[in-house]
Amino acid sequence: MDTKPIHVEQSVRQLFDLSGRNALITGATGHLGSAMARALAEAGARVIVSSRKMDKALAVAETLGGHQKGNHLAVAMDHLDEASVEMGFNEAVKQSGRLDILVNNGHDPLSADWETVTGEQFQRQLANVTGYFLLARHMRDHAVENNHPASIIMLGSMYGSAGSYPEVYEGICAASPAAYHALKGSVIHLTRHLAVYWAKENIRVNCLSPGPFPSSKAPRELVERLNTKSPMGRMGVPYELKGAIVFLASDASSYMTGQNLIIDGGWTAW
Ligand SMILES: NC(=O)c1ccc[n+]([C@@H]2O[C@H](COP(=O)([O-])OP(=O)(O)OC[C@H]3O[C@@H](n4cnc5c(N)ncnc54)[C@H](OP(=O)(O)O)[C@@H]3O)[C@@H](O)[C@H]2O)c1
Repeated sequence: MDTKPIHVEQSVRQLFDLSGRNALITGATGHLGSAMARALAEAGARVIVSSRKMDKALAVAETLGGHQKGNHLAVAMDHLDEASVEMGFNEAVKQSGRLDILVNNGHDPLSADWETVTGEQFQRQLANVTGYFLLARHMRDHAVENNHPASIIMLGSMYGSAGSYPEVYEGICAASPAAYHALKGSVIHLTRHLAVYWAKENIRVNCLSPGPFPSSKAPRELVERLNTKSPMGRMGVPYELKGAIVFLASDASSYMTGQNLIIDGGWTAW
């Protein structure tokens, strides 16, 4: 289903409806990626789940619901490996016939902060944005060649816009690494750049920046300290990104491109 002509007003239900759309999401096995994959499926999309491991991707695809329950797809892809990005993207196109939505969400983690990080580790962390760029370019080329619109969503972070609070992590665990802040700042800015270049081709590029959404593995004391830095006084729960991802993926955001949507309980408003 293509985007409707802009002079035809759609109802709110139609604007958020992803029926007939195919959405590729990386890191869909993870804490936030799995919730966003469920959101896309529940909004009507057929989801192509991507993981570095095919068996993990297949297992997540089988759990997804919506109109396409049972038809969701899986591909293997490592976004730090250019050949794997190309193969994974082509496989997603081959299996689905066409891709309309790309969510660049996967993240190869790093725990070393500024005191100890090596140049090689720093570069590897920054390579996450290279992977986001390569996949976004495949998505743009595919949509332009087939003459249809596309929505690309990059996962940034509040830490791409704001510095960290060193005392929150002190004595508990490694702080949010310097290389992570560099990475997420670059993801937000890459979004703006690509959006401008591709806007007239009907390719929208936006960034979704979560605030603190620690998983159940995060130390309790860390979470308690983080709560004091949040105007809402609590951490985000993964389903609280579901509305935002469907908004950015769908026609509900048809006049929005190059933006960074921050969902952080007010963290960056202080
Ligand atoms: N959780 C938060 O509080 C938070 C806050 C701000 C921003 N974010 C951002 O939100 C996104 C998701 O975070 P999360 O908390 O859900 O992390 P997560 O649970 O660690 O999930 C990340 C996923 O990325 C995949 N991945 C790792 N290396 C990869 C690679 N080289 N190529 C492709 N995929 C790779 C992994 O999947 P496989 O092992 O299956 O390949 C993993 O499931 C990340 O971009 C993160 O920076 C998270």
